[in-house]
Amino acid sequence: MKRIIIFDTTLRDGEQSPGASLDVNAKIEIARQLARLGVDVIEAGFPIASKGDFNAVQKVAGAVKGVTVCGLARSIKSDIDACAKAVKPAKCPRIHVFLATSKIHMQYKLKKAESEILKLATWAVGYARNFCDDVEFSPEDASRSDRDFLCRVVESVIRAGAKTVNIPDTVGYAMPAEFGSLIKEIKTRVPNVDKAIISVHCHNDLGLGVSNSLSAVENGAEQVECTINGIGERAGNASLEEIVMAIDTRKDIFGITTSINKKEIYKTSRLVSKLTGIVVQPNKAIVGRNAFSHESGIHQDGMLKKSTTYEIIKPQDVGFGATRLVLGKHSGRHAFNERLKKLGFELDESELLKAFEKFKSLADKKKEIFNEDLLSIVEDGIVSIPETFLLEDLNITSGNKIIPKAAIGLKKGAKVFKKTSSGDGPVDACYKAIDAITGLKCKLLDYSLKSITGGKDALGEVTVRIRSDKDEVLGRGTSTDIIEASAKAYVNAVNKLIFTRSRKAKSGPAKLKL
Ligand code: KIV
Ligand code: ZN
Repeated sequence: MKRIIIFDTTLRDGEQSPGASLDVNAKIEIARQLARLGVDVIEAGFPIASKGDFNAVQKVAGAVKGVTVCGLARSIKSDIDACAKAVKPAKCPRIHVFLATSKIHMQYKLKKAESEILKLATWAVGYARNFCDDVEFSPEDASRSDRDFLCRVVESVIRAGAKTVNIPDTVGYAMPAEFGSLIKEIKTRVPNVDKAIISVHCHNDLGLGVSNSLSAVENGAEQVECTINGIGERAGNASLEEIVMAIDTRKDIFGITTSINKKEIYKTSRLVSKLTGIVVQPNKAIVGRNAFSHESGIHQDGMLKKSTTYEIIKPQDVGFGATRLVLGKHSGRHAFNERLKKLGFELDESELLKAFEKFKSLADKKKEIFNEDLLSIVEDGIVSIPETFLLEDLNITSGNKIIPKAAIGLKKGAKVFKKTSSGDGPVDACYKAIDAITGLKCKLLDYSLKSITGGKDALGEVTVRIRSDKDEVLGRGTSTDIIEASAKAYVNAVNKLIFTRSRKAKSGPAKLKL
């Protein structure tokens, strides 16, 4: 299958996002991650822009392997000299020169006639070729340029040695069909077009950056320029993750592939967001917090029956973790019951109906219902968990120079069972001693502590999630002593485990009418 070249400009156009500035170390860290992601080209910066950017491009060029490292330059000697020097340490360096070709840019910004622009662009490419075989040229604002003139510029820079010609929709003005036809025209009209790669670079001012890029690909573009999370000047650039996943998900239409290691997508998105300080909108395609969350009862029911009903991409494929079924007022009984099972409650049908009613009335008041809310719903009058074990004695020896030890006494019926254990900390020692008494092998999955009152004598609440075989349960405990709260939470979880197992053994899970 034909492979499209992924040119990542997060470190150059992406860094031009208002408010985003990356120092050398941040650029190196992102560049290394981009290399793991599998991009073909990293545009690392604009070396003439500042000493810091020159330095960053030079360091990135030396730091990453197996990927082309590119720097940007205007069609000016000093820019090209600086760029050539900055990309030199790279095994595969590229110089990217640009010059505007639209009437509006030539007249007002550059104050040059077409003939001068044609000459300057051709000179700039020839000059850059003195330093580097791999030279890319961009006729800035190409989508608003006169097509005849644009085709002449493209032909001339290819003749001067440009290996890639990038067609930018600099101000995000083009419509998908129009931009696709521009690429087709260049591919058919420019006589030496087969000597260069035709690339596209689409901005997102009308929200069409990705659509325009994909339309260009359908019309013969061989490289796409894009950024992680779609960051960039103004409304940003076409987003890498959206382009890659569109091409991958709709192979039937595009019939092409990319070199991207999809499992690295989410990690890269998080890193770029963290280091640039630009948060990803929750509903952003592919990498937004809600991209794989479902709230409506109809959707959740579909998802639980077959995930492809409402998901066209598996979250794991882009390294996202798992689908999230958010419990809120739109959720239905199916998802509600599944979550209760995960918390260790296998309710019979009448208990389930009662709990579901309470859940719906809480969901009318609260946006999202968390596990702790569900515990309160179920334990408050729907099921009562027998206290098979009760914490009777707790004795801890701990300090910074001794191995922590816990002596625990648990009451079962009329008898008190005692055990002592050491551990990695006092809580760990307690849990080991409790396991020794109950005989259950439990794995601690989560532990959280919060204070529920204020002051030095604040009441601490500990929540634990434990697993034993396939059963998972949550337990809670409160005390002014956090070790005691921890022990109570664990004993509470153990009691729930025993209760759940005995109920399962007697009746089996509730059957739901949906
Ligand atoms: O948007 C643009 O035109 C650019 C060029 C420098 C490629 O970023
Ligand atoms: Zn741009």
